Amino acid sequence: MRVVVGLLLLLLGLCGSGAQGEAGGLGEVAEINKNTDPKDPAEESTEQTTEQTTCDIWTELRALRDMVVELNVHVELLQRENSVQATELTSLGTRLTATESKTSDLEKENAVQATELVSLESRLTSSESKTSDLEKENADLQTRLSSSESRIDQLERENAEKPKVAFYTGLTDAGNLGPYNTDTTLKYSKVFTNIGNAYNPSTGFFTAPVKGVYNLQLTVFGYSAGYTAVYVYKNNQRIMYNLERVDNDGVHEYFTKSLVLELTAGDVIRLVLPSGRSIYDDYGNFSTFSGSLLFTL
Ligand SMILES: *[C@@H]1O[C@H](CO)[C@@H](O)[C@H](O)[C@H]1NC(C)=O
Repeated sequence: MRVVVGLLLLLLGLCGSGAQGEAGGLGEVAEINKNTDPKDPAEESTEQTTEQTTCDIWTELRALRDMVVELNVHVELLQRENSVQATELTSLGTRLTATESKTSDLEKENAVQATELVSLESRLTSSESKTSDLEKENADLQTRLSSSESRIDQLERENAEKPKVAFYTGLTDAGNLGPYNTDTTLKYSKVFTNIGNAYNPSTGFFTAPVKGVYNLQLTVFGYSAGYTAVYVYKNNQRIMYNLERVDNDGVHEYFTKSLVLELTAGDVIRLVLPSGRSIYDDYGNFSTFSGSLLFTL
């Protein structure tokens, strides 16, 4: 608005300086026009010129007024636009403030979430590490378990395959045997126990079915006066001689021997009554021969 007024004054100033040269200003021109009637012909041309100038000035003034009106309209339009823009600015300012506030809140939330995220990541890493450790331990245990299982299977197989050998026999129910002229293999005929059938009552042989360590026992009862005795043979080799004197005083004699022998499969153990000696047995099981496999080799 100020600019427009300034422009108007400038235009008036320019216009006025042109008119003043002839008549000393607009007001004076109007006064001259009124006060110089009638006119002398000498002044006529001057008057005409003055009239002409006055007319131009009015024309210019009208043009200027039109311009001012036009400018006013323009200014009004600009003012309206300004007002609209100010309203819009206010609205935008309000929205900006609201958005800034929201942004600030979101930033705070973000910071909180970032902290939580870091904490969760740390926990996750720790958990993953623990899981990895447990997986390794589990794998180790699985390995050990399957190793143990295979060893158990092997032991079960070995145990199932392990030969079971045990026998227990009595010599006879017939009473006194001997003395004979030759060494005689004793056939223990009362077979009470014979697991694995390693003892053969028809030969009196105990034949080791597998290589191993065997425990053998024998008890000999002497009833008749003289000597009671027994040899132990391993295959055709004598490995033990046992002897007990029986007096004719009604006191009978016993002896019991025990052997632990390392035998290979097929080795034969038998008891032999030496020539000239006797041995006694009856339903009372006085003379017995027994043995068992302690363990294989
Ligand atoms: C002799 O031993 C067998 C088997 O153990 C038994 O049945 C029997 O009764 C025993 N004889 C005596 C007199 O104990």
